[in-house]
Amino acid sequence: MHQRTSEELNRRNASFDNRLRPTRFTEFVGQQKVRDRLTLAVEAAMQRREALDHVLLSGPPGLGKTTLAFILGEAMGVHVKTTSGPVIDKPGDLAGLLTSLEPGDIVFIDEIHRMQRTVEEYLYSAMEDFVLDIMIDQGPNARSVRLELPRFTLVGATTRSGLISAPLRSRFGIVNRLDYYAAAELQTIIELSAAKLDVMIDRDGAHEIAARARGTPRIANNLLRRVRDFAQVRAGNRITRKVADEALSLLEINPRGLDEMDIRILETLLLKFNGGPVGLNTIAVSVGEEPDTIEEVYEPFLIQEGYLERTAKGRVATPACHKLLGVAPAARHGELPL
Ligand SMILES: Nc1ncnc2c1ncn2[C@@H]1O[C@H](COP(=O)(O)OP(=O)(O)O)[C@@H](O)[C@H]1O
Ligand SMILES: [Mg+2]
Repeated sequence: MHQRTSEELNRRNASFDNRLRPTRFTEFVGQQKVRDRLTLAVEAAMQRREALDHVLLSGPPGLGKTTLAFILGEAMGVHVKTTSGPVIDKPGDLAGLLTSLEPGDIVFIDEIHRMQRTVEEYLYSAMEDFVLDIMIDQGPNARSVRLELPRFTLVGATTRSGLISAPLRSRFGIVNRLDYYAAAELQTIIELSAAKLDVMIDRDGAHEIAARARGTPRIANNLLRRVRDFAQVRAGNRITRKVADEALSLLEINPRGLDEMDIRILETLLLKFNGGPVGLNTIAVSVGEEPDTIEEVYEPFLIQEGYLERTAKGRVATPACHKLLGVAPAARHGELPL
């Protein structure tokens, strides 16, 4: 499954996603540290009867950023208004949104790194002093009006934390990065989702799906849905290891959870550049993807799984990468081939 399409997939599967989306911290599996920090912040804010501090959530797609924004709203007992960086294209849009809030409400800005710089600058005073100084009229009549805003909480989500400017980042009191999930955590998520979807699954079946989910709950749920179709038609609505394996093989899902772009990056590194070291930009040009996306969305998983290493000289393929792609490590200059 290609990650770039996760946005479309998310839209298409919106109802499916919503049905499976945890609504409380206690249902949110894994990410222990993030959960601990957020629950503490919520409790403290509730005790003081204040709005929660602004929260920045970063991490690759499908790890639970949007889910956490809604869980925070539920826990604080406030509304969550959602928008996304590219949608707010002028200061007036921001003003419209922020002046419509009730005290304590959460504004969730997805893909906050894609917000226009001019809009972003208005956000600074809104976040810090809860005011917006908007310019009205033009030429000699131009003047600025100050809008007072209710105390609100901004929850920003980004897949590319490296693209968040320092002034914006510094205005978030709570900054958290989500990491890929362990297979055992994904297994739990799959078991909970299967129960919600009314399909029987045993531990081995859930384990088999978890192993191919690229550390990502959204992918785990998407794979579960596909396996469920197979189980319903061919296996009496029961997912065992064998059923999961047959279904996923039929769909040509990589047994290690790698997606098309993962494979392309590794192939480029190994076949085109002899295993590296090769620079990030060179890889990016070769695979036709932005360097930051490669660095923040794809590489963390490849590094975690031990296929790729970052060195001072550039990216290097590991023995596991050679093994995966079935290529023997090249003999270095001056070394005798084994
Ligand atoms: N920690 C979690 N526990 C259970 N399910 C999760 C968890 N994180 C994400 N999910 C599932 O994965 C889906 C995608 O999560 P989402 O919050 O939309 O990711 P993001 O906003 O980071 O792209 C959710 O709809 C939910 O079903
Ligand atoms: Mg999201």
